Amino acid sequence: MERNERIEFTAPNTVEIVQRPTPTPGDSEILIETDQSLISSGTETAILTGEFADGTVWDSLYDYPLSPGYCNVGTVIETGNDINDELMGCRVASRTTHVRYAAVDRDKCVLVPETIPTQEAVFLELGKLGLHSLRRGGVELGHATGVFGLGLVGQLLVRLCDAAGAQPIVAFQTSDARREYLPSEPQIVGVDPRDDWEATVEEQTDGRGLDVVFEATGNGDAIEPQLHALREEGRLVIVGSPTEPTPLDLHAISRHSYDVVGAHVYHQPAEPGATNEWTVTRHAELFFNLVGDGVLNIEPLVSHLVSYEEAPSLYETLRTEKSRTMGMLLDW
Ligand SMILES: NC(=O)c1ccc[n+]([C@@H]2O[C@H](COP(=O)([O-])OP(=O)(O)OC[C@H]3O[C@@H](n4cnc5c(N)ncnc54)[C@H](OP(=O)(O)O)[C@@H]3O)[C@@H](O)[C@H]2O)c1
Repeated sequence: MERNERIEFTAPNTVEIVQRPTPTPGDSEILIETDQSLISSGTETAILTGEFADGTVWDSLYDYPLSPGYCNVGTVIETGNDINDELMGCRVASRTTHVRYAAVDRDKCVLVPETIPTQEAVFLELGKLGLHSLRRGGVELGHATGVFGLGLVGQLLVRLCDAAGAQPIVAFQTSDARREYLPSEPQIVGVDPRDDWEATVEEQTDGRGLDVVFEATGNGDAIEPQLHALREEGRLVIVGSPTEPTPLDLHAISRHSYDVVGAHVYHQPAEPGATNEWTVTRHAELFFNLVGDGVLNIEPLVSHLVSYEEAPSLYETLRTEKSRTMGMLLDW
């Protein structure tokens, strides 16, 4: 256990595998040995390139060197004094970075059911984000929905909208390669936002427009068409995290009485409340049930599964040829 490799961004566009001390778990912690970790493509590209405008949220969040990643499944190899050692050998999912050994608070880990393969369990964080976003959008059976941006976040949103009975689901993506990851179902319609997408939306919704649209591009230029695709009083859910300030004519929102809401993975409550029973724990349970029952098919979203030693070249592919990538997993 003397070697504890960790992926670090030591400067913009510089990925290194560094050695760090192996931590000792505190009383309420467990020590995990990572099995696999998933690269969150949009977020980690933004952090890697460091190309965010001064004064943006991104600008206030990160300084190099930093340890990226938050989608991790590992095996428990040591437990703190207050933790039942029956957990030894269990697989857990957590927000741990791309690192071999990590000491993590037991309460921040979720046990992975035995039936769920590691390479699917590692999508838990993004799955929980998708579920939370769907609820923020108020998606109901039969709602016409739109998803802009078909990276991992958008692909999961499309599949969850489908599981929730939304129809049609119009999925906007600039690169053909990423549209090809869409499930082949008649109610899921892929479009290139540079084509005549207005005609597609009109045709698919009998001229009404979309009830709910999800922003999952991280590209502020996409907001205007997203609002335009909505019906009167429709709802736009901002899931993406633009790296530039977004110029927006607010009149476009008041004029059509649109709802615009945000959705972030951090904002699922720990305890159920009077108006939100969807705690982070229930969303994790639901995600694993949907995957286990075959309702949410994660496996086709894995584009790369390589040794952590290939992380520098994998991030280079992500930075320069993103449209060729989808779920990129590091094997430890
Ligand atoms: N709210 C949260 O808690 C949370 C959590 C995770 C991620 N995020 C954010 O969510 C966003 C999506 O994440 P991701 O990992 O899926 O990102 P991603 O891999 O970068 O995918 C975004 C996709 O959007 C496409 N795109 C760009 N402009 C477009 C447009 N005008 N119309 C249609 N598609 C367009 C991009 O295509 P090209 O590559 O061809 O430009 C790209 O394939 C990112 O901003 C990320 O930071 C938020």
